[in-house]
Amino acid sequence: MSPYSAPNASRPPLRVALAGIGVVGGGVVRLLEANRDLIARRAGRAIEIIAISARDRHRDRGIDLTPYRWEDDMGALVADDDVDVVVEMIGGADGAALTLARQTLGAGKALVTANKAMIAHHGLDLARLAEQTDTPLKYEAAVAGGIPVIKAIREGASANEIARVYGILNGTCNYILTRMERDGAGFAEALAAAQAEGYAEADPTFDVDGIDAAHKLSILAALCFGTKLDIDAVTANGIRNIIAADIREAEALGHRVRLIGMAERDSAKNGGGLYQHVQPCLVPADHPLAYVPGALNAVVAEGNFVGRLFFEGAGAGAGPTASAIVADIIDIARDEYGPAFAMPVDALDQAPTADAGARIGKHYVRLIVEDRIGVLAEIATAMRDAEVSIESFIQRGTDGGDGGSEDGVVIAIVTHEGPASAIHAALDVLAASDHVVGTPMHMPILAL
Ligand SMILES: NC(=O)c1ccc[n+]([C@@H]2O[C@H](COP(=O)([O-])OP(=O)(O)OC[C@H]3O[C@@H](n4cnc5c(N)ncnc54)[C@H](OP(=O)(O)O)[C@@H]3O)[C@@H](O)[C@H]2O)c1
Repeated sequence: MSPYSAPNASRPPLRVALAGIGVVGGGVVRLLEANRDLIARRAGRAIEIIAISARDRHRDRGIDLTPYRWEDDMGALVADDDVDVVVEMIGGADGAALTLARQTLGAGKALVTANKAMIAHHGLDLARLAEQTDTPLKYEAAVAGGIPVIKAIREGASANEIARVYGILNGTCNYILTRMERDGAGFAEALAAAQAEGYAEADPTFDVDGIDAAHKLSILAALCFGTKLDIDAVTANGIRNIIAADIREAEALGHRVRLIGMAERDSAKNGGGLYQHVQPCLVPADHPLAYVPGALNAVVAEGNFVGRLFFEGAGAGAGPTASAIVADIIDIARDEYGPAFAMPVDALDQAPTADAGARIGKHYVRLIVEDRIGVLAEIATAMRDAEVSIESFIQRGTDGGDGGSEDGVVIAIVTHEGPASAIHAALDVLAASDHVVGTPMHMPILAL
């Protein structure tokens, strides 16, 4: 059948089962209902929800689900002969989501998922299973929600060697940091605001400690570099230790603080190692990432022929996430699919982990110290002994209740370029000092 055939000419509808009818699942139902005709014309055939499943059949979800067959047992979605595609919107790296994913692909049915934790931890196994049963595995919504970055990198930029991919991969953290910037608020206050407005969970650990961003980064890295996905090789530092003074100092230096996930591959000459790190960084105020407001996400990919690509949009929410999921379903309806990570799993490289300590750059260091004679000399000595060269050194006086610093003085240091390992060595010494209050903070100053 030609792809130029009129919609619905003779192709049967694509029959979809939805597993998980929460924020995302509800959005998918609404989107498929609202744009039904347009989607059928674009997909070349109708897309029909055949069956749905979640934990609690009686929960009010604010949508009329009576047109759809309810299955208490998720396994029935796979067993039903009339289901072509299972859409997993349950969540969690393991458990019910993983069982369903394996059953679906094992049965040769297409799987669409929004589940970054599951793809980050089990993506290679699932991709291999999809190859064995020759069925699609699609996960656009798992990275940066509504931004079609997987498709853009996998297809639009597929001719390029990509040396570096980085971005703002967690909307909750970006909301908190931009709120701190706008209001001069401390971390706790900005987190409370994020929770009150529904941008942060009651337990914000996954977001604020960088784990969610690490999941997305590991997926992007595999796709961009053609390497085997390795979540254990991603290191993550979150934003809990950032205080209002850090935001102010960054601004004074012409920068903004952003939680950045960055993956970079060394050249083959330098061992081809892969650096994958999520951490707060100082981003130059004139870089597009510095302008990403509130809960948005943004991804930058640098290709050797296309140059810098910049993608921005909503990284979460019912509508944007449903948009990404339904785009995957439309691809399946058109029979447009291929290897999940753009090449078969066996063609992906096993990259060594690059030495993060050897990365050269400038750093911002912030310490809160007791206001007494000799402390500045102690800092200078620790820096000198670790061979950290200081470009600027600012003492701001008492910081007034910001991040527990009421008894201390804020010292903000900018280093000259040097290896990250030297900063770590200096901070290990200073963290152990009786005169340093709390945990020293350091952030790379990105030269982008
Ligand atoms: N929310 C977003 O903006 C967003 C963005 C991108 C990606 N994602 C991903 O999308 C997935 C779903 O997120 P969500 O925000 O929609 O979550 P959610 O609102 O908590 O919904 C989860 C759904 O899964 C069902 N469920 C949970 N555990 C189950 C189990 N053991 N067996 C059967 N059903 C189970 C729940 O059933 P009940 O309703 O009956 O409790 C609920 O319908 C996650 O992987 C998440 O990371 C979310």
